[in-house]
Amino acid sequence: MVLLLLLTACDRGFVDSARKSGAPVAEAQAHPTTVHQPLTLGVVDTPVQDANGTPIGVACVTCHGPDATTAWASGEGEPFHTGVKLEHGSLACNSCHDTDRTRLHLADGAPVAFADTIQLCAQCHGAKYDSYTHGAHGGMNGYWDTRRGPRLKNHCVDCHAPHAPAYGQVTPVFPPADRNPLEEH
Ligand code: HEC
Ligand code: HEC
Ligand code: HEC
Ligand code: HEC
Repeated sequence: MVLLLLLTACDRGFVDSARKSGAPVAEAQAHPTTVHQPLTLGVVDTPVQDANGTPIGVACVTCHGPDATTAWASGEGEPFHTGVKLEHGSLACNSCHDTDRTRLHLADGAPVAFADTIQLCAQCHGAKYDSYTHGAHGGMNGYWDTRRGPRLKNHCVDCHAPHAPAYGQVTPVFPPADRNPLEEH
């Protein structure tokens, strides 16, 4: 009852009219919303670095290619990517990687290109993906109001490594060095 009174009271001019939410942005008026595309997708880092110190990558197809010269990594060989440590529920490599190593796949076997990795994440993390779509998870740069300018959203793998997606613990910083005014010097 009190709540109801408060609500009606709020409606009687207490609310700054400039703060009222506007009409939804029409598609035609809106600037684009793009998702950042990480350069690491579908690439194996080598120890060789470019001038900026970024590791130079090798595409999967170099070794997992379809023809005789590249098909040597045919699934019969010794374990190779031993640097990959999987800490992601109880998933196996092939839960996400297709037997065609140049792409990923959904649970029903539908292929997914590395560029569309978010589709893969969304399949198993529907609730988080919903929050992401609404802007409540994953952060963004640019404009809330897309009438004013474009928006750039982060990719899931900008923050979560697909093989070990747990987000690192935040390191607490030292407390502020406030002087205790009551302390005697
Ligand atoms: C330098 C060559 C090379 C490159 C580049 C490479 N692979 Fe491999 N990969 C191998 C070899 C060798 C194996 C060992 C098994 C085999 O013979 O298929 C392997 C195995 C795998 C396996 C199976 C692992 C297992 O334990 O069953 C996956 C998954 C895989 N690669 C994914 C990828 C993906 C994804 C990329 C690109 C992002 C990639 N590979 C790039 C050489 C390579
Ligand atoms: C949850 C899904 C998922 C699982 C499970 C998974 N991967 Fe991946 N993997 C990915 C995605 C997505 C990428 C591309 C992301 C990137 O390169 O930043 C990738 C990239 C790779 C790469 C290239 C980049 C790198 O880290 O070297 C290799 C090699 C690879 N995976 C091998 C494996 C192997 C071997 C396993 C099992 C031990 C495995 N993956 C399990 C999703 C998965
Ligand atoms: C095949 C299903 C599947 C796919 C695909 C998948 N995940 Fe997961 N994910 C899981 C499971 C299962 C867990 C473990 C849940 C648990 O332990 O409660 C998990 C856990 C997580 C966690 C929580 C980790 C933690 O320990 O706190 C994050 C973050 C995550 N996944 C992100 C991703 C991202 C990003 C992708 C896409 C690259 C992805 N997942 C793809 C099934 C999946
Ligand atoms: C800007 C960085 C960022 C991006 C982008 C991002 N996340 Fe997260 N995610 C986080 C943080 C931070 C947490 C909280 C970790 C915690 O509480 O320990 C989290 C938690 C999660 C969890 C675990 C939730 C739980 O309850 O344990 C899942 C699953 C997840 N994210 C999936 C995704 C998926 C799927 C995407 C892409 C659609 C995505 N995230 C994009 C930063 C991000």
